Amino acid sequence: MKILSVFTSKGGSGKSTIAIHMAVIASQQKRRNRVLMLDYDVQESSRFWARARQEDNPPLLPADPGTLNGYLKQAREEGIDLVVIDLPPHSATQSGLALEKSDLVAIPVRPGAFDLWAMEATAEAVEEAGAKGAFILNQVPSRGTEADETEQVLRAKIPQIPVVKARLGLRKPFSSALNAGLAVTEFAGPKEKASQEAVALFREIKGLLK
Ligand SMILES: Nc1ncnc2c1ncn2[C@@H]1O[C@H](COP(=O)(O)OP(=O)(O)O)[C@@H](O)[C@H]1O
Ligand SMILES: [Mg+2]
Repeated sequence: MKILSVFTSKGGSGKSTIAIHMAVIASQQKRRNRVLMLDYDVQESSRFWARARQEDNPPLLPADPGTLNGYLKQAREEGIDLVVIDLPPHSATQSGLALEKSDLVAIPVRPGAFDLWAMEATAEAVEEAGAKGAFILNQVPSRGTEADETEQVLRAKIPQIPVVKARLGLRKPFSSALNAGLAVTEFAGPKEKASQEAVALFREIKGLLK
């Protein structure tokens, strides 16, 4: 069983979007992975998504630090392949336990609202937990050099955490899909650019989880 957390101390950068997409795409693979989502997010965006969703797959459980160990133990016993944890934006102490258990911590970064201080604090929390992190550029505008510049700064200032190759563009289908209780692959079909980006991101993350 692998555990993927999505975490950053910066709100609105795409934690829930990435958590939901990695969970749904994992469950859509030929090798029908059994996936469980744990939702720590106080904003509850994943919970709204799950409520809008017609099916209970992947299942989403509201969690807190007190219930984490119990859920993970149960998931192992039930043969779950992947647990995706959507964490809240602020308190690293609250997230620390989840970070410690994670095989990988995906850290979304929004180029336009890039905040180096927040990224350094996030990286520190990931390292303190002894976890492996990966930066993901999300909401990348279709034009301009902002994302490349952000990536350069991250590589220079936080070299211990890699920036993944796959980027998610700033694309309407990502938000429309979530509002409908879907992932882009379900909402817009596999040929849509957003779907291709999300699948490419999943493949890269899968490689890092090994
Ligand atoms: N790649 C994207 N393209 C378009 N909209 C996005 C993208 N990623 C996130 N959003 C939107 O930005 C907002 C914040 O994203 P969310 O995943 O809820 O962030 P967080 O969980 O970090 O607070 C949401 O309205 C979401 O639909
Ligand atoms: Mg969220």
